[in-house]
Amino acid sequence: MKVRAAAVFGLNEPWKTIDLEIDDPHPGEVKVKMAFAGMCHSDEHIRTGDISQPAEVLPFFGVDSMFPLIGGHEGSGIVEEVGEGVTGFAVGDKVAVSFVPSCGRCEPCASGRQYLCDMSAGTLAGPSFDGTWRHHIDGKNANRMAQLGTFSEYIVVSEHSLVKIEPWQDLRAAALISCGISTGFGSVVDRGEVKPGEVVAVIGCGGVGSGAIQGARIGGARAVVAIDTKQSKVDRAMKIGATHGATSVLDAAFNILPDLTFGRQCDLVILTPGVLTGDLIEQARSITAKGGRIVATAIAPWNQQQIDLNLFSLAMFNQALLGTVFGSQNPRFQIPNLLRLYEKGLLDIDSVVTNEYSIEEVQKGYDDLESGVNVRGVVRFD
Ligand SMILES: NC(=O)c1ccc[n+]([C@@H]2O[C@H](COP(=O)([O-])OP(=O)(O)OC[C@H]3O[C@@H](n4cnc5c(N)ncnc54)[C@H](O)[C@@H]3O)[C@@H](O)[C@H]2O)c1
Ligand SMILES: [Zn+2]
Ligand SMILES: [Zn+2]
Repeated sequence: MKVRAAAVFGLNEPWKTIDLEIDDPHPGEVKVKMAFAGMCHSDEHIRTGDISQPAEVLPFFGVDSMFPLIGGHEGSGIVEEVGEGVTGFAVGDKVAVSFVPSCGRCEPCASGRQYLCDMSAGTLAGPSFDGTWRHHIDGKNANRMAQLGTFSEYIVVSEHSLVKIEPWQDLRAAALISCGISTGFGSVVDRGEVKPGEVVAVIGCGGVGSGAIQGARIGGARAVVAIDTKQSKVDRAMKIGATHGATSVLDAAFNILPDLTFGRQCDLVILTPGVLTGDLIEQARSITAKGGRIVATAIAPWNQQQIDLNLFSLAMFNQALLGTVFGSQNPRFQIPNLLRLYEKGLLDIDSVVTNEYSIEEVQKGYDDLESGVNVRGVVRFD
């Protein structure tokens, strides 16, 4: 079938809306009519080259280029067709996508760590998991972000990349929860193991940071310090649970933390800026308490190996620097779980969605992210 989709054709080229040819689902695959797709910063990382893989790595993905690539890895929709052997989904089911697949059988999945599912290895580019291609632009095979490519009216994906949600659950909230909100929330609650009464700082208050701020609020933090270089993001963070705001780590360090923490600093610091740079690690550590944790959630350029870090202080203050993918949570648990919090009014998703766009307007949505207009933009499909 022919659908409209947004793709990027080369490094630093703009998002273009194009006609995409999608094949029928193969065994184990599902066709979904998309309702919403969230515009996460990670898709921009492909366009700008942060996570575009070098030429020598591409053969492992079975391709010689990351491009063309259909963007989008946050989203939700309705099952339109199921391939042979699919038993977990039926036509008409509401689903959220998951950028980490969960096969349920590999060692990480079997040990309760779906966020580390071995199937993730092939998700950045290349053919579908069975080694064949389902997506074509002008007769040429097209890569898909996270084997999803949700900036498309329909998607054909592995059943392992979908999470079924309840018929009454909100599809727009599900789209945001499918990556950004879950990742931020889990960074605080699951990876950061926030405890009631702690002080949490979140550096970078976009879509993922909005999940982190709310994870801290719901997890019982006594104070949540929102730090973002854009004042508009700080203001919005204060509406969803931040108790204090600053436009730089230094600003927080001098003007907020001395009184707030009696000089002890933050128990937990979450790094969710658009791009993680090496200098931010020491900045985060410098506002972390003795015995505190730093969680690096944001994505750095793929070849970033150098960081600033005071190793003496890290050891002597008994601090922990932790990485996380998907907030170290299981998509099949976390997505329905956070949707229930949303339904109860405990998790605010509606304030995080700042604008809706058509599939023709993906580049405008990312321009609005860059300029600070958006916390999270979503593509709404008709
Ligand atoms: N670990 C994971 O599994 C995972 C999952 C999803 C997204 N991510 C990554 O998380 C990061 C955040 O994603 P997002 O969609 O929320 O991005 P975003 O662009 O919506 O938000 C980033 C925010 O950081 C702010 N910022 C930029 N530099 C800053 C700095 N030096 N100090 C303070 N604030 C700064 C920006 O103003 C913006 O508000 C990205 O790197 C994204 O790729 C990681
Ligand atoms: Zn994402
Ligand atoms: Zn698995």
